[in-house]
Amino acid sequence: MEYNQSEFLIETIVPQDELIISRTDLKGVITYANETFANISGYSVEELVGQTHNIVRHPDMPKRVFKDMWNKLQNQQQWTGVVKNLRKDTGYYWVHATISGVYKEDKLVEYKSIRVPISYEDRLKYQKIYDQYRNIDKENIRRVIYS
Ligand SMILES: Cc1cc2nc3c(=O)[nH]c(=O)nc-3n(C[C@H](O)[C@H](O)[C@H](O)COP(=O)(O)O)c2cc1C
Repeated sequence: MEYNQSEFLIETIVPQDELIISRTDLKGVITYANETFANISGYSVEELVGQTHNIVRHPDMPKRVFKDMWNKLQNQQQWTGVVKNLRKDTGYYWVHATISGVYKEDKLVEYKSIRVPISYEDRLKYQKIYDQYRNIDKENIRRVIYS
């Protein structure tokens, strides 16, 4: 994968006092997005709702992280983890996400995700871990073309 936009290297910092919240249907199609999610991702709420959640998937994220996420969710367990997300302008932001089921009369109807910022040290740590995972799994390596 190649990127030639310099925005690809620009990080958006998630404010400490705000939560990024979304809900999806059981297939991962966004049914609700709060204003903070829209602001941080660079999309409008209207642009997000109706899209699959991989609209913010960053190419640095290893496939195995999402495999683990969906395994947990499909086994009715909560998933927590660190995610690097892609902004509309190809910049990025890091979050710690807690994703779990939404139940109506004991029936799983949706998933919800609540995300908070992580420390600078953790951002460096997870970038390294995820680079290693992608290397081990022979996924894409990072290639940024400067224009
Ligand atoms: C409630 C919920 C929230 C999600 N949040 C994100 C997210 O913030 N970033 C992301 O890349 N994937 C998120 N996902 C996972 C995506 O649905 C998708 O599996 C992932 O982006 C990998 O894309 P792929 O399944 O097309 O390979 C979320 C899934 C659910 C159910």
